[in-house]
Amino acid sequence: MTEKRQFRAIKGTRDILPPDSALWNWFERTAREVFETYGFGEIRLPVFEKLELFVRSVGADTDIVSKEMYTLDLTAFPEVQGPLRYLIESTDDPLRFTGWLYELLRGLTLAGESDRLEKAADWTKEAITKLTEIHRQLHQAIADDRLLMESQREPSKHPEIHGLIRDAALIATSIRVTPEMAGLRPEATAGVARAYIEHGMHTLPGNVKLYYVGPMFRRERPQKGRYRQFYQVGAEVLGQSDAPAIDAEVLEMLLVLFGRVGLTNIKLYVNSIGCKECRPKYVELLRGELQKVKDKLGADSHRRIDTNPLRVLDSKLPEEQAIIETLPRISDHLCADCLAHFAKLKEELKLRGIDYEENWRLVRGLDYYTRTTFEVTAAGLGSQNAVCGGGRYDGLVELLGGQQTKGIGFAIGTDRAILSIQEGATAPKLPGLGVYVAWMGAKSYPTAVAIARKLRECGIGVELPPEEMKFKKSLGLADKLGARYALIIGEDEVASGVYTLKRLADGDQRKLNENDLLEYLESERRS
Ligand code: HAM
Repeated sequence: MTEKRQFRAIKGTRDILPPDSALWNWFERTAREVFETYGFGEIRLPVFEKLELFVRSVGADTDIVSKEMYTLDLTAFPEVQGPLRYLIESTDDPLRFTGWLYELLRGLTLAGESDRLEKAADWTKEAITKLTEIHRQLHQAIADDRLLMESQREPSKHPEIHGLIRDAALIATSIRVTPEMAGLRPEATAGVARAYIEHGMHTLPGNVKLYYVGPMFRRERPQKGRYRQFYQVGAEVLGQSDAPAIDAEVLEMLLVLFGRVGLTNIKLYVNSIGCKECRPKYVELLRGELQKVKDKLGADSHRRIDTNPLRVLDSKLPEEQAIIETLPRISDHLCADCLAHFAKLKEELKLRGIDYEENWRLVRGLDYYTRTTFEVTAAGLGSQNAVCGGGRYDGLVELLGGQQTKGIGFAIGTDRAILSIQEGATAPKLPGLGVYVAWMGAKSYPTAVAIARKLRECGIGVELPPEEMKFKKSLGLADKLGARYALIIGEDEVASGVYTLKRLADGDQRKLNENDLLEYLESERRS
């Protein structure tokens, strides 16, 4: 007997159930509405991309790539790998061997068509030709039943069959396929930049403004507000201009959204981390200063002095805070252009009435940033209080092989935004079930079905019990389901064409014919 087993969601992943999912949909819908008023269009990206894309853009030494990526081995494709294994295992069974050889050839053809075979290796193609010929010969030999039986019973009597098998096995083991690794996306900016290049979006007029909504994956230690599959709503602007007004407008859009969804207990932090001219010099200066205080720093910071000194500034360790405060600040080491860009950004934020705090330690955990970086924290989230992060990434498209392009964007952590909205009790009361149709008697059922359909066509949420229920039980269920109204349809009502609509909150009842009923419920829904 098979063992009874209960499955649970994998650690760090979770299900979003109703009624929470309605809140999620409302949040995402509001984001779409707000973003579209700023001229953004949605981009739907793949959930996995070439691993190299993330390594290059997010950075090989970042935690996200070096520790938290979920990778997929696309090399191990079944149409070749499976038959290859079984083929080698069945060298003493000519019939099975020939069958697997056929499957292998089929897999190789498919792999060849999809470019996954080592392109440079002509000998792979040669191998296919040779294997095809061996397959033909083997197939012919084993088609003769007598020969087949004999060769299986007494292999030594048919050295030609076993010779063919030996040759084929030897050739098969030499077949190589191009190794190809993909990663489940830990974030979407890299994918957006890849798509921007792939679709030649630099030729589009004006700035390209894109937003995305969807799951991201990072193998982090799960805790409140931190999951291994989490969700982001993000927006990116790519184009030729790096005008600080773009940065400011992106921030304005973000804050308009937060205002609309009632996320008001928030704080915006901004910083400039310089460009490829001034930042390397600052990083060297910082590294030098960090070397001097190395003994007082923990293991993570030690490592980062070599790999990425800027990340030391991100440390949350209490014992490192006093030391970090004494370190040189990037704001004192920005080049004239970066300084002017940052000054203009602050002016633009002021113009828009946006409150912010400068935070010189805001360096962010991804390598592609230049100049503007920002983060928004929200109340009610504990230690994982960053509800949004973003910044400029002017060199990213070029780094990925595209044209010189400027870019800026952000991503909101939807899980955290929802948590904060729920904790702040600012969640809106979303319309739930409108009408519960309490029908009784087989003759009233067709009318109940027809009215339910009409109400639903008017956009009203309707629950129609699939089986007849006792009146009291039916109303009890309507209550438990949170319906606003119960519509009572019995055989008398069907005969008279007048139905009873009962408001469940206060028991108010009214008798209405079908037209009045639809009109009444529609006006209630709109109000
Ligand atoms: P990020 O700061 O890595 O930036 O992530 C953005 C937001 O995603 C965070 O502020 C947080 O709210 C949420 N988040 C990150 N990791 C988790 C997790 N494990 N569980 C729950 N929420 C999480 C980026 O991803 C950049 N791509 C943002 C960006 C867009 N920069 C420019 N354009």
